[in-house]
Amino acid sequence: MKIAMIGAGYVGLVSGACFADFGHSVICVDLDQSKIDALHVGKMPIFEPGLAELVRVNVAASRLSFTTDLASAASDADAIFIAVGTPSRRGDGHADLTYVFQAARDIAAAVTKPTVVVTKSTVPVGTGDEVERILREVAPDIDLTVVSNPEFLREGAAINDFKRPDRIVIGADDERARGVMRDIYRPLYLNQSPLLFTSRRTAELTKYAANAFLATKITFINEMADLCEAVGADVKDVARGIGLDNRIGSKFLHAGPGYGGSCFPKDTLALLKTAEDFETPMRIVEATVQVNDGRKRAMGRKIITAMGGDVRGKTVGLLGLTFKPNTDDMRDAPSLAIVQALLDAGATVRAFDPEGMDVARTMMPDVVYCDGPYAVAEGASAIAIVTEWNEFRALDLARLTGLMVEKRIVDLRNLYDADDMAKLGIEYECVGRPA
Ligand code: UGA
Repeated sequence: MKIAMIGAGYVGLVSGACFADFGHSVICVDLDQSKIDALHVGKMPIFEPGLAELVRVNVAASRLSFTTDLASAASDADAIFIAVGTPSRRGDGHADLTYVFQAARDIAAAVTKPTVVVTKSTVPVGTGDEVERILREVAPDIDLTVVSNPEFLREGAAINDFKRPDRIVIGADDERARGVMRDIYRPLYLNQSPLLFTSRRTAELTKYAANAFLATKITFINEMADLCEAVGADVKDVARGIGLDNRIGSKFLHAGPGYGGSCFPKDTLALLKTAEDFETPMRIVEATVQVNDGRKRAMGRKIITAMGGDVRGKTVGLLGLTFKPNTDDMRDAPSLAIVQALLDAGATVRAFDPEGMDVARTMMPDVVYCDGPYAVAEGASAIAIVTEWNEFRALDLARLTGLMVEKRIVDLRNLYDADDMAKLGIEYECVGRPA
């Protein structure tokens, strides 16, 4: 199969490299010349474990290549995937589809034979209809079919998620397109990953339903954590106690500082916009968005309260800034709201993140960036663990707190045990567990 992947961002690059690894011939297209130049010399535009090696192997095997020339990539492809960004539109929260529609126009101008056009970008219900309309308008004489194939990979675990998916959702309204998609995914299909064929609109909505449900699940356990703190219960045990019920499931029940990243915040907002447009309000998702927004800054107040309520002139050290580990992504990270709350209250903020500091520097110039967790601790009255990077799970706590002015840790990811902290004489706060 010859595949053209339009967009060499997270989804496009990972999907392109994995499809090439299945044996398909893949060409990834991006308008950004510097990104393509970097890829040509093996430099990844994102940090994702295993990606550089997967790209290297498949480029060496001539199955994967990169270009800025959409027309030549699309002209003889069997399938053309659209994997461009769909950010929140400034002002109203709708998904901004400018890049998707532009890709559709460019594809229609380039194709020379019947081709399946697949939207992998997260797009609101009905986008496939509009893409189809554009294709028909620009290339009325060529048989082009539009399929929705949303992606469910997580940053930091993207390659594994792509190669071992729980399911593959394919929204295709005609049999020829279904056949092409079956061929593309044959290696996974043979590997027992269920292929779920639906209508195009259903597939588009399924993606939003999944992200909104997961965001709600996290928000539910976060509120439960607050209640646990108030009544003296342990949210980790509550999560285990409910998660062992197969109907609930144990995943995405880790209480923390609120969800962030490039997907849940924007997708929940876009889903609300769709619901509004169709006059079917989704109150549960509305509440999720509101509760999560409030929670991020509340975590800043939690740190301030743990420090006695007045942080003016004091130093707070943050471990972890990215929205989750194994990524350099800072988009909608809880750390942004936490840092702002601390700076507003007059604290000095020191921070370390294994991958996110280059981006963090541009977003939060008033933070003092350090080269490791122990450097962060120097002169601090509190350390807050904001992202659960593995290297923060087994810190030398005596050494860490020995560098601090006051021995205090606020563990927003519940990595440590309150009893161990007490033995070391460390004042310890966590999320939803008795300290
Ligand atoms: C999410 C979905 O998990 C993917 O299935 C989906 O494909 C992707 O969005 C997308 O739409 O592209 P991602 O944003 O990479 O993936 O990250 P997640 O691992 O889902 O984490 C999102 C946020 O939830 C993070 O801030 C994380 O810290 C938080 N989280 C997650 C919790 O606070 N508790 C949990 O138990 C799980």
